[in-house]
Amino acid sequence: MPEKRVTNDDLAKIMDTSDEWIRSRTGIGERRITEEKTTANLAAGAARKALDDSGMEACEIELILVATSTPEYYFPNTACEVQAAIGAENAAAFDLSAACSGFIFALNTAHAFLQSGMYRNALVIGADVMSKVVDWKDRSTCVLFGDGAGAVVIRSEDSEKEGIRQGIMGSEGKGGEVLTCRARSNANFLTGKEPDTDYLYMNGQEVFKFAVKKVPECITRLLEETKTEKEEITYFLLHQANYRIIEAAAKRLKLPIEKFPMNIEHYGNTSGASIPILLDEMNRRGELKRGDKLVLAGFGAGLTWGAMLLTW
Ligand code: COA
Repeated sequence: MPEKRVTNDDLAKIMDTSDEWIRSRTGIGERRITEEKTTANLAAGAARKALDDSGMEACEIELILVATSTPEYYFPNTACEVQAAIGAENAAAFDLSAACSGFIFALNTAHAFLQSGMYRNALVIGADVMSKVVDWKDRSTCVLFGDGAGAVVIRSEDSEKEGIRQGIMGSEGKGGEVLTCRARSNANFLTGKEPDTDYLYMNGQEVFKFAVKKVPECITRLLEETKTEKEEITYFLLHQANYRIIEAAAKRLKLPIEKFPMNIEHYGNTSGASIPILLDEMNRRGELKRGDKLVLAGFGAGLTWGAMLLTW
């Protein structure tokens, strides 16, 4: 996480908002904002910690996937920057863009590569610097987001009992206009247009409706496909966008809110980074026990959504 904490009260000094408004509608109390670090810097920091935990050397890593929608460059990709920073010279490295579902999409993709036998391990990172794409003059969106990165190392092992069991992913491009961040339009000598960039745009209420419907649907489908009872799941780690979305999902699934850990109060919505950050915090606090069944679920721009069942 970037070190700089920005509280709701800090924001209230520069825009017409309040701690009460932000907290009551989202659960967010503060977020981290990076001043110097790029998406790749944050991603590489998380990658180093994940490698330390895994006991693997960077040079052993065969695949690096970075889920991000806020890269520093169109090219090279962020994963190549990470590869250079951590010295994982034997890895193939590429980015994957699925906004706030990005980490689930990347983990699913890495899992498929491992299942196919093409690679034996992968470093999967979710990293976003949302503070550079939100409009700091738009109080309805900028207060929601924060910067951060999280990472995991996965590797192939013959184990029926542990590891990633199954993931599912879905997309609905025709609903995509409710949450967008334009890159560049066709600016060239033929169109005569100047290169432009745009800020994040969001229709908050439409995104809210999409999330509270899609997340429970997709978790239910995952549990049905894997013949798992919802009561068997120790924790549901949902993308941290808004505590009300998470509460609504718990309610629709008829599950106690205690099964849905949250850290949104401290970080806001860190997009592709939110799920691995939460996973890491729980792991470091010793809250995850070997054999726990976890469901991870993400949702976001695209529209995209996805969920994954794993045994810790
Ligand atoms: N501080 C104070 N007032 C604000 C504000 C802020 N930061 N942002 C917006 N407002 C005002 C608006 O101008 C509007 O005022 P008006 O009624 O006078 O026009 C009012 O608050 C809107 O409030 P409300 O109707 O309560 O908004 P809401 O219940 O839809 O909540 C969101 C807004 C953004 C919190 C909510 O729609 C949401 O969480 N959506 C999902 C967003 C999300 O999670 N996106 C990422 C998905 S990956």
